[in-house]
Amino acid sequence: MAQSRPAPDFRRRLKAANLIRQDLMRHAVGLFAISGVINVLALTGSIYMMQVYDRVLSSGSTDTLLFLSALALALYVFHGGFEAIRSQILVRFGARLDQRLSPLAQQLSIEMPRYGFSTTEAMERGRAIDTLRGFLGSSAPGALFDLPWVPLFLIFVFLLHPALGAVTLAGAVVLAALTVVAEIRSRGLTQAAQQAMVQRNTTAESNARNADALIAMGAVNRAVDRYLAQNADHLATATRAADVAATLSSISRMLRMVLQSGLLGLGAYFALRGQMSAGAIIAVSVASSRALAPIDQVIGNWRNLLGARAAYALLRDAIAAQPEPGKTVDLPLPTGSLRVEGMTVASPATGRVLLADVSFELKAGQALAVIGPSGGGKSTLMRALAGVWQPLRGAVRVDDVSLAHIPQDRMGKIIGYLPQEVNLFAGSILENINRFSEDRASRQVYVAAATAGVHTMISALPDGYDTQVGSAGTALSAGQRQRVGLARALFGDPFVVLLDEPNAALDAAGEKALNETIKIIRDRGGIVVVVAHRPNVLKAVDMVAVVQNGRLAAFGPRDEVLGNKQGTASPPADLVGDGHARAVHAAE
Ligand SMILES: Nc1ncnc2c1ncn2[C@@H]1O[C@H](COP(=O)(O)OP(=O)(O)O)[C@@H](O)[C@H]1O
Ligand SMILES: [Mg+2]
Repeated sequence: MAQSRPAPDFRRRLKAANLIRQDLMRHAVGLFAISGVINVLALTGSIYMMQVYDRVLSSGSTDTLLFLSALALALYVFHGGFEAIRSQILVRFGARLDQRLSPLAQQLSIEMPRYGFSTTEAMERGRAIDTLRGFLGSSAPGALFDLPWVPLFLIFVFLLHPALGAVTLAGAVVLAALTVVAEIRSRGLTQAAQQAMVQRNTTAESNARNADALIAMGAVNRAVDRYLAQNADHLATATRAADVAATLSSISRMLRMVLQSGLLGLGAYFALRGQMSAGAIIAVSVASSRALAPIDQVIGNWRNLLGARAAYALLRDAIAAQPEPGKTVDLPLPTGSLRVEGMTVASPATGRVLLADVSFELKAGQALAVIGPSGGGKSTLMRALAGVWQPLRGAVRVDDVSLAHIPQDRMGKIIGYLPQEVNLFAGSILENINRFSEDRASRQVYVAAATAGVHTMISALPDGYDTQVGSAGTALSAGQRQRVGLARALFGDPFVVLLDEPNAALDAAGEKALNETIKIIRDRGGIVVVVAHRPNVLKAVDMVAVVQNGRLAAFGPRDEVLGNKQGTASPPADLVGDGHARAVHAAE
């Protein structure tokens, strides 16, 4: 998957994309000016030496020497000061860029996985910011800003002797040509190396996630081999890219040394013929080396430069791909109904339609069980109801307001969602249930835990509500995770509670508690939509929907829908899919 490809339904947002460039441009003018001052001051050495050789040595005046030395010292101090200011500006610019872009990058790494990107790919944006900031803090950008001032030194050398100026210019041209060659030869390579690395890291991440299965089924060696093969790809391209860069920088260093000595030799030749003074030879040598230094530094930093440019491009595309925040309305919290109107849902990753033309309505106090075979589209329906996937056509409305028009930070008060695969946030159980809200001592956490039937379980843990769970909730069993996830969905009494197979890892007691939970929500006037794989849950609901082959095959009062099929309260096996095949887990 190309990293810079914006996700399909993202709208371009050019204003934001220009953000970095505008900031860069504003700073560039100031940095260019400061660099001019720095470069003029850098002539100090040349002029000082010329004066010492040609004036002081011939006149023998100690006073002149002292005066010149003091003047040169002062100019050097200014030169150093301005260079320090320039690098401080660059570092602060980097820090501000980081501050401004990090939230966007973080948001993207949360949103990208649902568009089919791997976690590693999603995290690339965060690393790109580090790359850019590191680059701005290095010596490379200073060299870039010195580059436009190279002619200053060329003119200086030309004035001392046109032939020497011409040689220096030729040297600069050859070095610049080398840079162009480096650009052409390494552009593709650096990109390929970067992509190979992302792929390799994606594999490493998946291996780590599947550690248990790999070890149990003796597939560790094969997993390592797969990683090694991809790592070899990365190493091969990275080595070729490094070779190009290293070869070019050796050539350029050699050329510079030859040029330096050549200029000295030529200068001596002209001095012998009386066309130049001895001081001018030294001045030429110093000025020409200063003229070539930025070019040499740019070549030496070529790889960092390309890396920074790639990072910049990645961020620019990422910002451009941020969706425009839709028009939102601030209305009272819904209390009446959940309505789905002619909704069609496609996968954001592939664009394939997974659920077509679904319509139904639930009133406050109702509970709907969604049943149907595996892969039929139940979880897809839940994602659309939760607003995670936006419908291609149609809408989900709570009290007539489309979910698309509800501000993100308000969604949590309206919708509680327990995904099919429960992952807990890295943090305490308390933070998991209150979703990192500020209000730490909130009674709502305990209400949610009690409603979910986990308060006793949590209290029995050594650290209780402060128990830290790993990034994937590893400190808890699957059943415990699912019940904490349930409490998280119930926190704050949201109007709509969406539970995707909440009983998958529950034991009989857990299932009973779940039915109790559904009743409590209904009694307080909430709406429950629950994907049920096992028939037990059906006791607590009044409505049933059958989702099959991406369609709503049936919807209605529980006994009617189930009765139409079989005339009993227990659904036929083909409707509950592989639910019966699953062993009943002991939850804890
Ligand atoms: N993240 C996803 N991206 C693309 N397709 C998906 C994704 N999740 C599920 N699907 C596809 O959507 C279809 C329905 O899946 P899902 O809604 O998870 O079914 P169920 O929950 O009923 O088992 C399946 O064919 C599956 O391949
Ligand atoms: Mg599912």
